[in-house]
Amino acid sequence: MKFFIDTANMEEIKEAHELGIISGVTTNPSLVAKEKNISFHDRLREIATLVPGSVSGEVIALDAEGMIREGKELAAIAPNITVKIPMTPDGMKAVSVLSKEGIKTNVTLIFSANQALLAARAGATYVSPFLGRLDDIGHNGLDLISTIAEIFAIHGIETEIIAASIRHPQHVTDAALRGAHISTVPFKVIQQLFKHPLTDKGIDAFLADWKGRE
Ligand code: E4P
Repeated sequence: MKFFIDTANMEEIKEAHELGIISGVTTNPSLVAKEKNISFHDRLREIATLVPGSVSGEVIALDAEGMIREGKELAAIAPNITVKIPMTPDGMKAVSVLSKEGIKTNVTLIFSANQALLAARAGATYVSPFLGRLDDIGHNGLDLISTIAEIFAIHGIETEIIAASIRHPQHVTDAALRGAHISTVPFKVIQQLFKHPLTDKGIDAFLADWKGRE
């Protein structure tokens, strides 16, 4: 399983990129809105220049025609832009058109296996099931990842599964076990992934022993 970072914040993206662990970036309108006084297109260009992998930017239009227009504008920003499109009938019309033109798409707000299958058949490069938001309403987000992974494997579907709405490190481990190809992880959770008290304790002990020999 690969890591994407789920943010539009440049400092976080730079830091995660320097760690050498991220293969891409996902943004959404809420994440972009947190960044004050930026141009959306300029920020996507900046991210796509720094990170060579997939960089998802989401359309705002809700009609197919508008999504296709916005999707083409986003795709023109850089060759590694992926157009993020919500799971609606109009969205799938847009995915169908954009994918035929060789534009990569990420279908977002996936909450059922059937939605993932529809997105894959429309030609989506990625589907993004939202784990945390399912957990929030008492459903099991991880079971959804397993079901989608099994269906895609049975039918030889190449669309990649991005585990999204990741809230804590256990989500990351479980998403990997359940067959997600990618987890898109907030910066705070990436930082948490590094931590283990025995690692800190071990470093302290090694340094204390090293000093003791002087
Ligand atoms: C992913 O593509 C989404 O931007 C994101 O993971 C949503 O996460 P949230 O449910 O924490 O807002």
